[in-house]
Amino acid sequence: MYIESIQLKNFRNYETLEMEFDKGTNILYGDNAQGKTNILEAIYLCGTTKSHKGSKDKEIIRFHEDESHIRMMVNKDEMSYKIDMHLRKNKAKGAAINGLPIKKARELFGVVNLVFFSPEDLNIIKNGPGERRRFLDLELCQLDKLYLTDLASYNHIVNQRNKLLKDLYVNPRLRETLDVWDIQMVSYGEKIIEKRRQFVEELNEIIHEIHSNLTGGLEHLEVIYEPSVESHDFAAALVRNKDRDTRMKLTSVGPHRDDFCVVAEGIDIRKYGSQGQQRTAALSLKLSEIYLVKRKIKDTPVLLLDDVLSELDSSRQTYLLDSIHDIQTLITCTGLDEFISHQFQINKVFQVVKGEVYLPYQK
Ligand SMILES: Nc1ncnc2c1ncn2[C@@H]1O[C@H](COP(=O)(O)OP(=O)(O)O)[C@@H](O)[C@H]1O
Ligand SMILES: [Mg+2]
Repeated sequence: MYIESIQLKNFRNYETLEMEFDKGTNILYGDNAQGKTNILEAIYLCGTTKSHKGSKDKEIIRFHEDESHIRMMVNKDEMSYKIDMHLRKNKAKGAAINGLPIKKARELFGVVNLVFFSPEDLNIIKNGPGERRRFLDLELCQLDKLYLTDLASYNHIVNQRNKLLKDLYVNPRLRETLDVWDIQMVSYGEKIIEKRRQFVEELNEIIHEIHSNLTGGLEHLEVIYEPSVESHDFAAALVRNKDRDTRMKLTSVGPHRDDFCVVAEGIDIRKYGSQGQQRTAALSLKLSEIYLVKRKIKDTPVLLLDDVLSELDSSRQTYLLDSIHDIQTLITCTGLDEFISHQFQINKVFQVVKGEVYLPYQK
């Protein structure tokens, strides 16, 4: 699939904007704080209903405005799809495909598939478990339409259960209600654990070779899923931890506490890896994601690369750029030097200046 065009109205620092993209590599360059990332955010939002950085709708709407509109034209299997997002300050957003309103974000995943890569992703190995879980969840949501629903239900239940644990302190009679939540929590939680396990397995089928190529055959990488509790033991663990959870007023076991470990040559590089090792492993993770999405949807996703190139050394830049030649890519950067020095093929160049976009090389 590829993105044909995008139109913005009162989105971040854009009053209005229209852009037509090439099917290949598109570069958006410009100084800092001009609005490059905002364009990728608009695309990501249109494809997933969510901001890649978790911003709220009211933060995204242009200052002093009440509404924001995004329209994205997507081409999939030679067919054009029109996706509309309508953000409002104090109401839920509206979304439509070809003019028909949609209720669930997952309806979009049959039409749009995106891989977003930002400099923060390069820190995924060294950061805390929360960010690694976020990685698992974002990927799984793209690959498995039901995962999103299961995860949302699970998270809702954890919140309700934690709230109840706090209320129990004042009203111990509520303890029986806990069992009702626990049954549901286990039923969603088991699914999430199994899906994460399977995802990590699939990841390992791919990451090995990518990482080996990235390190010139020097390093072998393995990802190990570390569930907070095994799915078959989840129900029992909740019972075992009941007193403790009540004391702590917090749910101490479950997929909301999962993590994964990244092992290179037998060493846990979360703790013992050098920064270079950790970043290369993060790059391998992201590249594996592209292959996994490709395999799953039997189509190519669109890659959004936000300021990542300047964070990588020359050989990793080359590897990254070489491995993405067959998919539509939107790259933001502050200059064009990297592309010139790598003699990398560019299909379209946009210059972004203060919420306006120019085509500097258009004849
Ligand atoms: N809701 C908003 N309304 C208007 N301008 C905004 C809004 N949110 C962010 N901005 C502006 O967008 C700019 C940052 O855009 P961004 O895309 O992150 O820049 P960069 O080109 O560095 O990627 C800043 O100048 C910021 O003030
Ligand atoms: Mg930016």
